[in-house]
Amino acid sequence: VDHELVTRLVEGALRAPSPHNSQPWRIALLTRDTQLALGAAMGQALLQDLTTAGADKVAALAQVKRSRDRIAAAPLALVCSTIHARLNFSGDPNGDALEVAMAVQSVGAFLQTFFLLAECELLGTCWMAAPMYCADVVRRVLGLRGDHHPQALVLMGYAAEPGRDRGRIAVEDVVSVR
Ligand SMILES: Cc1cc2nc3c(=O)[nH]c(=O)nc-3n(C[C@H](O)[C@H](O)[C@H](O)COP(=O)(O)O)c2cc1C
Repeated sequence: VDHELVTRLVEGALRAPSPHNSQPWRIALLTRDTQLALGAAMGQALLQDLTTAGADKVAALAQVKRSRDRIAAAPLALVCSTIHARLNFSGDPNGDALEVAMAVQSVGAFLQTFFLLAECELLGTCWMAAPMYCADVVRRVLGLRGDHHPQALVLMGYAAEPGRDRGRIAVEDVVSVR
């Protein structure tokens, strides 16, 4: 997977909707070195969190290794962040919190559009929430400014086999007429 293809997919995903067209998403395409450094640094942060929570040392180390290996194994990785530069902040705490929530919703629309375009190129994708738990670490490793709020690490590559079907709840449990 090369950065040029991914940039083309990002270009398509830019059509995703966002409130007052704020387009609050930014994408960092990772070099191989940065990908490995990020996996290692986030693993350290995870270990610290697990230790603080009183987790068993051996189990915690195994979990960290699983996470790091998974990140390292991905042919390509990117980090999607929100930025607040074009949000409509008014100073009203409730309104401002909703602006931030809408920026996060927009990232969902952006990434899902990106994933569908990737699927058309036979690329598998996985959304990982880990950067949300260690934003400072992600900013440091990637050299992002403080106004970047990391939302997702996306791992991608040509799938060796079809993804596992995790099933879905029935449509009747989702839709109601009121
Ligand atoms: C906001 C969000 C965070 C997610 N975080 C993770 C994650 O940290 N690790 C992971 O393996 N999958 C993660 N996923 C993927 C979900 O686990 C996955 O979409 C779900 O289990 C359904 O499986 P499927 O998409 O393969 O059908 C995340 C998805 C979303 C939307």
